[in-house]
Amino acid sequence: MNKFYAEARSLDQKDPLAKFRKDFLTDGQTIYLDGNSLGRLPERSLQISEEVIRNQWGQRLILSWNEHWLNLSKTLSGKIAKIVGAREDEIWLGDSTSLNLFKLAYGALEFQSGKNEVLTDNLNFPADLYVLDGLVQNNFKGHQIVTVSSKDGIRISEEQIEKNLNKRTALLTLSLVTYKSAFFYDMFSINKMAHKSGALVLWDLSHAAGAVPIALNKSNADMAVGCTYKYLNGGPGAPAFLYVRKELQEKLQNPIWSWFGHTEPFLFQEKFTAAQGISKYAISTPAIISMAAMEPGIAIVLEAGIENLRPKSLKQSNFLLRIIKSELIHYGFVLASPENADERGSHISIQHEKGYQICQALIEPKNGSKVIIPDFRPPNNIRLGITPLYTSFQELYETVVRIKEIMDTKEFEHFENKIKNVP
Ligand SMILES: Cc1ncc(COP(=O)(O)O)c(C=O)c1O
Repeated sequence: MNKFYAEARSLDQKDPLAKFRKDFLTDGQTIYLDGNSLGRLPERSLQISEEVIRNQWGQRLILSWNEHWLNLSKTLSGKIAKIVGAREDEIWLGDSTSLNLFKLAYGALEFQSGKNEVLTDNLNFPADLYVLDGLVQNNFKGHQIVTVSSKDGIRISEEQIEKNLNKRTALLTLSLVTYKSAFFYDMFSINKMAHKSGALVLWDLSHAAGAVPIALNKSNADMAVGCTYKYLNGGPGAPAFLYVRKELQEKLQNPIWSWFGHTEPFLFQEKFTAAQGISKYAISTPAIISMAAMEPGIAIVLEAGIENLRPKSLKQSNFLLRIIKSELIHYGFVLASPENADERGSHISIQHEKGYQICQALIEPKNGSKVIIPDFRPPNNIRLGITPLYTSFQELYETVVRIKEIMDTKEFEHFENKIKNVP
């Protein structure tokens, strides 16, 4: 293990992104490997929240809509557009990922009215599968969902997708980086093969935005949704974003009509007239406090640059994989993420039959060790999230050392194998 320790120290010393760690609130102790679920709090979000609540809401009250708030979604959408390789007028920030997925999938199925299949895979996030299921059972009753199954639980081959695309496929929807294994699809070639068969593609970018390079325009992507509270550090329940390619915007209607999607929301007309362009996908009054607190997280990602974050992320996941293979496999851990770096997002999953108890021991050490926060996905997945903005090589090394200790001392036996709520 000593050689890994020396390597970690040297990699940290040479790391040009190490300076960004101080932009986040830390207690200096806890090792946080769950930025793939909820990013850390940017220090500046504290100041902005105080300003928005105390001054804008507290002092200026409703005047703040015109002074600060009405343009917030648009301003932040422009910043997100840079991160995902889209034009500013193709991104809209608001609502949740599920709601945005519903709106876009609905619009796409209505537009593709002669086709009746929805293609997805079983690595997709369950909430996405529920949304699709609900749409087919409640709104598009003649449609059917075709779910491609992963053979190893880690990846899906392009051939598997291609085999299931046909003239009936209205919509293909996938997570660009899958939530459990971190499998990373090639967006260019999937879009190309789907378009060849006449299908539209809807990507879920939740585990990808801020973590991997995304080129929505260059890859000719149709639609996408994504959350902002993971690698964009937007805060719990922060509004999500959606993307619709410019030429598609006039074709895909928002199924939910409300005032913020009206062409003139503040004229209070009796009849609904849908707005043109990306703002037609709006529904309701934006969640201003959440949105305002999100700006620093996005700004830090832009400042660091995905072109720098991605190489560090891969260097870190390669390093972690090497230590896991050298030190943990003989305890019964199984690697559940792609070994090929090009196929991997920014977390590593390892499986163990005692996975839940091991996670609990990491979070609640009995022996005064550092608290380490990974996350757990049933039935046996420990996800170790790498956020290059604030994760150090030494933390990855220390995590493996600590897991070894938990296995050697059987510390996990202090915890019940009964899964409580896991966000
Ligand atoms: C990949 C993915 N899609 C969708 C969702 C659901 O997001 P929301 O709760 O904003 O609807 C999540 C939540 O974590 C997710 O990870």
